[in-house]
Amino acid sequence: MRDLDEFTVTDEALAQMAGTENPRLKQIADAAVRHLHAFAREVDLTPEEWLQGISFLTAVGQACTPIRQEFILLSDVLGLSAVVNALHDKKAKELGTQSSLLGPFFREGAPELPLGSQIVDKPTAEEIVIYGRITDNAGTPLPGALIQVWQTSERGGYDLQERGPDEMDMRGNFRAAADGTYYFRTVRPLGYSIPMDGPTGDLVRKQKRHGMRPSHMHCLIGAEGHRELVTALYFGDDPYIGSDTVFGVSQSLVVEIKDDPASPIPGLRAVHYDFRLARQAPGESGRVGADPTKMAAQ
Ligand SMILES: [Fe+2]
Repeated sequence: MRDLDEFTVTDEALAQMAGTENPRLKQIADAAVRHLHAFAREVDLTPEEWLQGISFLTAVGQACTPIRQEFILLSDVLGLSAVVNALHDKKAKELGTQSSLLGPFFREGAPELPLGSQIVDKPTAEEIVIYGRITDNAGTPLPGALIQVWQTSERGGYDLQERGPDEMDMRGNFRAAADGTYYFRTVRPLGYSIPMDGPTGDLVRKQKRHGMRPSHMHCLIGAEGHRELVTALYFGDDPYIGSDTVFGVSQSLVVEIKDDPASPIPGLRAVHYDFRLARQAPGESGRVGADPTKMAAQ
């Protein structure tokens, strides 16, 4: 039996885990142990700090409820979710529209509406139209593709926050027409703060970050034989466009509301965005993120 020091304990831990049957679990757990040990050595972690870390993670777990996933929020503000999305995009068989965070406000079962419908129940701001085409990577239209959209109101709250869990608003599902076009009416959503009343918010405040997300419209798009696309469109003139707390913004997803003679609803200012779906690899779901209500139910 040899004396273990801060280096040899890493080898011992890896040796004990060497019999792991699932090769992917072995790869992930081995790397986690190597990086965690290296992290502790790099910062010369003290027992008090170790305990503080344990307390912090415990508080993150305790802040989770059926409609709140504090661990996803922590992953988001640390940039881990954005890294996972970027890796996912790189693994696609071909280039499609870039993905972005699903976020915690996606809900299954939003109403399917005719093209051109207004998704906001009682709009109190300028109506705008969002339109474009859904195609494959080569630009061939995908008729019948389902686009699900959800957003905050002009006041910055989602329906779950403004109306409670029993009502749906500021969301809708649309089917692309025979030529792949989609269009609907809405109002410009307002950017908002991530939930700052939990341990993740405490961390963000200590880091002197504002906690804001720029104005955006979430989109989840599916078509037979294609990778499900989870993404969002970001309004380029938002003051937080360059400093999103959860790193969801990519230049290719930034849009502008314009006077547009090509708009399918004349008289309304419009956002034009065409989505491209990549072909699906066998056994691939493509979903980046999860419905938090489903995770808590398990
Ligand atoms: Fe959002």
